[in-house]
Amino acid sequence: MTTIAVTGASGFCGSRVATAAAARGAAVHCVGRRPGPVGRHIPWDAAREVPDLSGADLVVHCAAAVGDPVPGSPAEAAMHAVNVDGTARLLEAAAGRPVVWVSSASVYAPAAERSRITEDHPVRGHLNAYGRTKAAGESLALAAGAVVLRPRAVYGVGDPHLVPRLLSRVRRGLLMLPGPSVRLSLTAVENLADACLTAADWPPGAYNIADPTPYERDEAIGAVLRAHGVRARIGHVPLPVARIVAATAQTLARLRPHAEPPLTRYAVDQLAHSVVLDVSRAVSQGWAAGHTLKDYETALLSR
Ligand SMILES: NC(=O)c1ccc[n+]([C@@H]2O[C@H](COP(=O)([O-])OP(=O)(O)OC[C@H]3O[C@@H](n4cnc5c(N)ncnc54)[C@H](OP(=O)(O)O)[C@@H]3O)[C@@H](O)[C@H]2O)c1
Repeated sequence: MTTIAVTGASGFCGSRVATAAAARGAAVHCVGRRPGPVGRHIPWDAAREVPDLSGADLVVHCAAAVGDPVPGSPAEAAMHAVNVDGTARLLEAAAGRPVVWVSSASVYAPAAERSRITEDHPVRGHLNAYGRTKAAGESLALAAGAVVLRPRAVYGVGDPHLVPRLLSRVRRGLLMLPGPSVRLSLTAVENLADACLTAADWPPGAYNIADPTPYERDEAIGAVLRAHGVRARIGHVPLPVARIVAATAQTLARLRPHAEPPLTRYAVDQLAHSVVLDVSRAVSQGWAAGHTLKDYETALLSR
């Protein structure tokens, strides 16, 4: 029986990877501070120690500090300790075992033109510590010969990040978004979990992972709100205004470094520009994304 070590298995994506691995007949080691949904718990704090990966045939690294912390805050330093130093510790322990390292499309440079991003798009110019530390972590993983997956905006039942943030922004039946609608790649958590378990045999390197086709931002968000039973209209803040509001919020947030600002330059960038991932490199390895936003809506509506 194959044994798969999954880090971050107590989190949103890692728990899906662990469950999918167990469903495929693997023995699962959930390596992290808290247990995962299945398998054996191997305690590990990525910010402090080298993990015990003994017995693992494959390592899927989903653990990360995620968020959009205030520059110079303790959360920003913690992010480096987990996403960069923790990766170095993980790679040391992996000692040549195959590693699938879950990165993010946030590593890509926030260029004006992102309507078809291949894996050769520049990795630089990050707007926050998340992008910066994920890029630094993945460069260690790439140098060690890992397969690096770059999903974008992972959604699904139980998502603790994107949808709760959107829902919290609805005020008096109105959700204001920066600029007019754009086309965005999104990644169903089921598609990411499937890629994590399929990619171990792919040639080392980076691979974009997303749903088969991009979505119109406003249509997709409207559908998600409705599936959550939230009645809200979508309004548009002119982009220059959104940028000023975000810059002001980030400046004021420096006074309260333990709280994330309500709007950031990164959030505006991610929502206001077309960002479409070209997934042909993963598809050329025989991978196909089987899930779409429609499946998520159906799952929510049938609860
Ligand atoms: N969600 C998205 O939209 C998205 C998009 C692109 C890429 N990704 C990538 O997908 C991966 C998983 O993200 P997610 O959405 O599942 O985030 P999540 O729900 O916040 O889960 C993060 C996981 O990392 C673990 N972790 C954090 N700090 C740790 C530490 N010091 N030591 C050990 N484990 C630690 C957490 O463990 P605890 O339970 O102990 O906190 C948790 O299991 C990350 O690599 C992220 O960069 C996510």
